[in-house]
Amino acid sequence: MSQRTLVLLKPDCLERRLAGTILARFERKGFRIVGMKLMSVTPEIAAQHYAEHVSKPFYPNLLKYITSDPVVAVCLEGRDVVSVVRKMVGVTKGYLAEPGTIRGDFSISGQKNLVHASDSPESAERETAIFFKPEELVTWKTSDSDYLLSESEKTE
Ligand code: CMP
Repeated sequence: MSQRTLVLLKPDCLERRLAGTILARFERKGFRIVGMKLMSVTPEIAAQHYAEHVSKPFYPNLLKYITSDPVVAVCLEGRDVVSVVRKMVGVTKGYLAEPGTIRGDFSISGQKNLVHASDSPESAERETAIFFKPEELVTWKTSDSDYLLSESEKTE
């Protein structure tokens, strides 16, 4: 089923010049970029995005980290994109993440884990609305869909 998800390339990803490398993984898998922007996360945006973490002891550190440098917000579209991107990203802590995942290959930190990816279709909808206005998302199709999916899969 075609869905959209929100990915954030976090400040450590940009500091380490890994934005292109990581974005390329999602593109190569077959996902389409439908929104993308470089931006600073304000404390207000952070509180909205991390609403479930605001009262946790690590939130002050998380806030400092996510507002320290720009992020790239990306909205990706494609088949089962929410769960597939989560698998590609790996578990939260880089030192526990499986090799082959983004965090498993590039992060050894529990906090500086390079990327955020929505954990459910509901979170994806909520989080995408925090980072993008509806008119900033572009509806389009890539011309390689005949090679990415079978005829029957295209209508699933
Ligand atoms: P993510 O899972 O994308 O969203 C919540 C973020 O909070 C998480 O990535 C980490 O960057 C950060 N985080 C989660 N747990 C901790 C923790 N115990 N200490 C510091 N940062 C954390």
